Amino acid sequence: MPLVTTTEMFKKAYEGGYAIGAFNVNNMEIVQGITEAAKEENAPLILQVSAGARKYAKHTYLMKLVEAAIKETDLPIALHLDHGDSFEICKACIDGGFTSVMIDGSHLPFEENIKLTKQVVDYAHDRGVVVEGELGRLAGVEDDVNVSEEDAVYTNPDEVEEFVERTGVDSLAIAIGTSHGAFKFKGEPKLRFDILEEIQRRLPGFPIVLHGASSVPQQYVEMINKYGGNMPGAKGVPEDMLRKAASMAVCKINIDSDLRLAMTATVRKFMAENPEAFDPRQYLGAAREAIKEIVRHKIINVLGCNNKA
Ligand code: G3H
Ligand code: 13P
Ligand code: ZN
Repeated sequence: MPLVTTTEMFKKAYEGGYAIGAFNVNNMEIVQGITEAAKEENAPLILQVSAGARKYAKHTYLMKLVEAAIKETDLPIALHLDHGDSFEICKACIDGGFTSVMIDGSHLPFEENIKLTKQVVDYAHDRGVVVEGELGRLAGVEDDVNVSEEDAVYTNPDEVEEFVERTGVDSLAIAIGTSHGAFKFKGEPKLRFDILEEIQRRLPGFPIVLHGASSVPQQYVEMINKYGGNMPGAKGVPEDMLRKAASMAVCKINIDSDLRLAMTATVRKFMAENPEAFDPRQYLGAAREAIKEIVRHKIINVLGCNNKA
């Protein structure tokens, strides 16, 4: 099966009240851990690549890893650019074989966001590629940019119809209180489901995307701290909130930090317990298993997309 776009996946997810996991990939072990879990659970999948990942692993390596994953799994997999911040990077990914791109104009004034997003949509649609836009601004760290909780801006439901209509985007990322990274809430976790509901009412049937949706499992935070790390106060989005969002209009849930935590905790533990180890296959193999387990957990308990491939 070739790489697919997200069109069919989102349609089924919307109707079925579940969401597709969009997992960030940076190297072979991450691609393998995610795709092995999806294969075993027969789940559709979005693999996403940030500008940072593209710089780290290089476009061609990531492309070939994803091609290998498709060959191994025969699953519907979309390859997506995460947080494209310019027409140029979106164009490079479209020309280079991605089936989906995000143009993130969320930091721009409304009219400029529309203009940039529409430019990407026109180029992408002519080539059979789908586009995710964003309205509202998440807090957290992303590609070295740190947005504080105070500077985050919830998506304004009054703007969504005009944005979608004038840009022609295929999905819309919104800000309802999630944020990037492992430190999401200072106090009690809170998501603005009232905003999500209103957006769903104004855009019936239209797929919504939730960024910053890691849950920050405390067992991994504790493991990191036990084996020499320092992550006091790390806090994520409770899984029942994500499950609720997935049953509503949210069709794509972005998860990166949880994979980083699982991988880092596992490598720290492995090295502490095996001080003589120096074969990377041992600790990276253990990390790959940890990724597989957490992705399987997300697919079944958070996204609800098991057996939907
Ligand atoms: O939202 C951002 C993703 O977690 C990607 O992070 O830019 O460090 O690769 P990155
Ligand atoms: P997390 O940092 O919560 O994993 O969010 C990832 C993300 O939104 C990627 O675009
Ligand atoms: Zn994001």
